[in-house]
Amino acid sequence: MPAADFQCLIVEKDAAGNVHRSITRRPLSDLPPGDVLIRVRYSSLNYKDGLAAEAHPGVVRKLPHVPGIDAAGVVEESSSPLWKPGDEVIVTSYDLGAAHWGGWADYIRVPAGWVVPRPSGLTLRESMILGTAGFTAAQCVQAIQTNGVSPEAGEIVVTGATGGVGCLAVMILKQLGYSVVAVTGKPELEPRLKAWGASRVIGRNDVIDSSPKPLLSAKWAGAVDTVGGNTLATILRSTKEYGVVSACGLVGGTDLPLTVHPFILRGVILAGISSQNFPAGRRNDIWQKLAGEWKPRHLEDVATEIGLEQAEEYVQKILKGEVGGRTIIRL
Ligand SMILES: NC(=O)c1ccc[n+]([C@@H]2O[C@H](COP(=O)([O-])OP(=O)(O)OC[C@H]3O[C@@H](n4cnc5c(N)ncnc54)[C@H](OP(=O)(O)O)[C@@H]3O)[C@@H](O)[C@H]2O)c1
Repeated sequence: MPAADFQCLIVEKDAAGNVHRSITRRPLSDLPPGDVLIRVRYSSLNYKDGLAAEAHPGVVRKLPHVPGIDAAGVVEESSSPLWKPGDEVIVTSYDLGAAHWGGWADYIRVPAGWVVPRPSGLTLRESMILGTAGFTAAQCVQAIQTNGVSPEAGEIVVTGATGGVGCLAVMILKQLGYSVVAVTGKPELEPRLKAWGASRVIGRNDVIDSSPKPLLSAKWAGAVDTVGGNTLATILRSTKEYGVVSACGLVGGTDLPLTVHPFILRGVILAGISSQNFPAGRRNDIWQKLAGEWKPRHLEDVATEIGLEQAEEYVQKILKGEVGGRTIIRL
């Protein structure tokens, strides 16, 4: 029997337009409509959650809002035959934590089609260490693999390497036998990046070239880019023939100053990665991989667990690019 009300972190604006966040209790009837009521055990902190916590209009459609694009927990009520009370489940992507109240709460209510069964190789806690970041990292790696880049082809460069997507991409790639070059703005974390699987660590400026040259010397067999902007453009210009660059992020910018030369002279593939509406069947395949042979052996090494009351501090940190690894939120 669910409680009558629930705790959540709520984002609101006052009459002057200032954004406020507070931990509060709300009646269950305040939750958005949906088929499945889930008692959340863990959520996580992603860059997009930082934006949602700031009521960024690109993420949040209306206020008040509960952030949290990831949630893992136990079904308490279901009007769908797909799910029954007691099922352990994961919800990531779709509109969770964006247009729909998210996982920084004791409860979420969501459409049945958003729910994924907890794969047997993952605990609920581990599924949130992965979360949208791990799911996205796996999509990036899959694009590199399925487009024909083998570990023998050369180095794979990963940008934003200490961040959520970045650190999990480093781990998965290493586990699959790739040689990984980690790009970071936190040189003091070089030992951790090497422990996670990077063979070399370089600085952010090493992957930024502002010259107008359409092509640069070819270094990379592939890339996982979370930064965008000139970093992505430089990497594309520096990728070897038939290399694959998976682009998923924009922490460094949304422009792409580039010519077509990497594509038509080197056959470089730019693989766009979007986890939000990734089709359900293929979504389960990715979770099965993450619970099986792709599951990072040292997953706990990247995890920091916090309570909802520490979310405020971590929101500030992630927006400044200061969070290393994955932060999970215990509910
Ligand atoms: N397409 C999708 O479906 C999808 C899914 C998930 C995430 N994303 C996007 O992927 C990106 C990373 O997400 P995340 O949750 O992993 O974020 P995160 O944990 O905050 O990691 C981002 C990392 O990028 C680096 N960074 C921060 N600001 C930077 C800047 N100005 N220039 C260069 N590097 C910078 C930092 O790592 P270092 O200090 O190590 O450089 C930071 O830790 C975000 O843009 C997010 O929106 C997209």
